[in-house]
Amino acid sequence: MPPVLLIAGSPSAPSRSTALLDEVAVRLARRDIETLPLAVRELPADALLAADVSQPAISRAVDALAAAPAVVVATPVYKAAYSGLLKAFLDLLPHGALKGKAVLPLATGGSPHHMLALDYALRPVLQSLGARHILPGVYASDAQVALTPEGAYQLQAELAGRLADAVHTLAAEGLQQQRMPAGPGFAPVPFASVRCSV
Ligand SMILES: Cc1cc2nc3c(=O)[nH]c(=O)nc-3n(C[C@H](O)[C@H](O)[C@H](O)COP(=O)(O)O)c2cc1C
Repeated sequence: MPPVLLIAGSPSAPSRSTALLDEVAVRLARRDIETLPLAVRELPADALLAADVSQPAISRAVDALAAAPAVVVATPVYKAAYSGLLKAFLDLLPHGALKGKAVLPLATGGSPHHMLALDYALRPVLQSLGARHILPGVYASDAQVALTPEGAYQLQAELAGRLADAVHTLAAEGLQQQRMPAGPGFAPVPFASVRCSV
């Protein structure tokens, strides 16, 4: 199975939202699931803003996304939404770029007040790109991602627990179908045959 793509959408380094992504990477590695990091801030800015998909680094990033069975997207909350940097990358992706993929969204924000940005801002974009399965996102406020005197970020135990649950769901629901051979599935039901009871 190709690696799960881990997209870091923060323009900052070090970054709290990327710390969440790092924790996910560690937990996926423990399950022998390979990951590939993609820091959008490291892509060439002019090519990113011009959506120049012929630029080699951008083209490699788009190809890595196309190959990935699942994607984890981390972003800081900026002005009650996701970062503009992440949007610049998502905007240059082709139609249906997330088709057939499971996506786990992660975000950090200065306070708990904008936790719904994951659902009202990021989720519709992921949906529009055709994501097969958008898992429940994980949101953390800055207070839950403490900066240690050594300059590293430390996740609160409760947050680490939520990320562990999210990784479990990603492995169990998001990646399981990729590992199993495709079955015949259900035959489509004509609309006229649909019955419901209330
Ligand atoms: C330009 C800017 C806008 C921000 N807007 C918000 C906001 O609307 N709501 C919020 O909760 N935090 C906001 N924050 C705080 C960041 O979301 C928060 O510090 C986040 O953890 C930073 O993540 P990072 O370290 O991965 O970049 C903003 C920060 C910046 C720099």
